[in-house]
Amino acid sequence: MNSFGLDIGATSMKLIWLQKQRSGMMLKSCMMTVTPAKGMFSESPFDQEAMAQAIQKLMIDAKVTIKNVNVALPENQVFTKVIEMPELSDKELSSAIYWEAEQHIPAPLKTMALDYKVVKRNISDQLSSKMQVLLVGAPNTLVHRYQQIFEMTGLTITAIETEIISVVRALVPSNAASVLLVVNIGALSTSLAIVQNGIVVFTYSVPLGGLAMDRAIASNFGFTPTQAEEYKKTYGINDQNLGGKISQALQPILLSILSEIKKAIAYYADKNKNDNPLSQVILTGGSSLLPGIDLFVARNTGLETIIGNPWKIHQVAGISPELLEQGPRFSVALGLAMRTDE
Ligand SMILES: Nc1ncnc2c1ncn2[C@@H]1O[C@H](COP(=O)(O)OP(=O)(O)OP(=O)(O)O)[C@@H](O)[C@H]1O
Ligand SMILES: [Mg+2]
Repeated sequence: MNSFGLDIGATSMKLIWLQKQRSGMMLKSCMMTVTPAKGMFSESPFDQEAMAQAIQKLMIDAKVTIKNVNVALPENQVFTKVIEMPELSDKELSSAIYWEAEQHIPAPLKTMALDYKVVKRNISDQLSSKMQVLLVGAPNTLVHRYQQIFEMTGLTITAIETEIISVVRALVPSNAASVLLVVNIGALSTSLAIVQNGIVVFTYSVPLGGLAMDRAIASNFGFTPTQAEEYKKTYGINDQNLGGKISQALQPILLSILSEIKKAIAYYADKNKNDNPLSQVILTGGSSLLPGIDLFVARNTGLETIIGNPWKIHQVAGISPELLEQGPRFSVALGLAMRTDE
């Protein structure tokens, strides 16, 4: 692997560098640090410089010696949709996709960087043969800003994809037969994806996550955000703790996340009437470490729910117990580091 993976989250940056070995992969380095306050979203050269410096420092601390990096764009900044089109050859598709994109992307296409990937071919109904295509549109301004900041660091971006694609690579084997719902719950946002045969067939994101949980606890109890986060991590939503008070404060946020999960399940059930039902929910991202969240989702959806820890799925040498425990926070970074070119 000639590139390392860098996940720049709303609150923390995660870096992973892997080396291929005869028996699996070896972890060359893995590190997490705080994301500078303005992150990747400021137009100010001053903030961009701060961001570049933070990336450089992280690389030095992690002792990364290669210059190629794979990065992920946050789901909420990007348009992603699986669309259906008539069956076309690759060549026909490459010219038809632009016109198709125009009908789906609610922004002028000249302001967007387009990317696409065939999800499934030869889906036939009575009348015709169709194909499914994953369409991704990222604002040019966003892509340029990433390129600019990375140029300042002296790094070369070898691949840009969206976070959920990285997460799915890290957590779902490409030969997985079952249909899964992957839910990446971060600090600022939650992205959901339905994965069929190892491929994303539906995805979207909502602005809900761990920071909203902290705010809910802080305002209920008059805590500072830091205190609130500590209580959240310690007690989570296990009802018996503190008489269930923390759990109660978290209810509105959890119910909103649950309602998005149920919406995705209902959407899939409606599209695929009988065959191949959705069988499992995989929660990942930092907020999936909330004590009790897997039980909460399992009880309320009736589906088997697991915490997606990428270190438990892949044979990677060199994982410490602390890293193993924080595994769900590294799904995006590991997926990026694992990308061999596709
Ligand atoms: N043990 C825990 N219990 C509950 N929440 C936790 C735990 N550990 C971390 N978190 C929460 O996870 C969030 C950080 O997760 P993560 O690193 O995945 O977010 P991010 O990538 O920075 O954000 P985003 O993906 O939204 O851009 C924080 O809100 C933090 O409070
Ligand atoms: Mg994240």
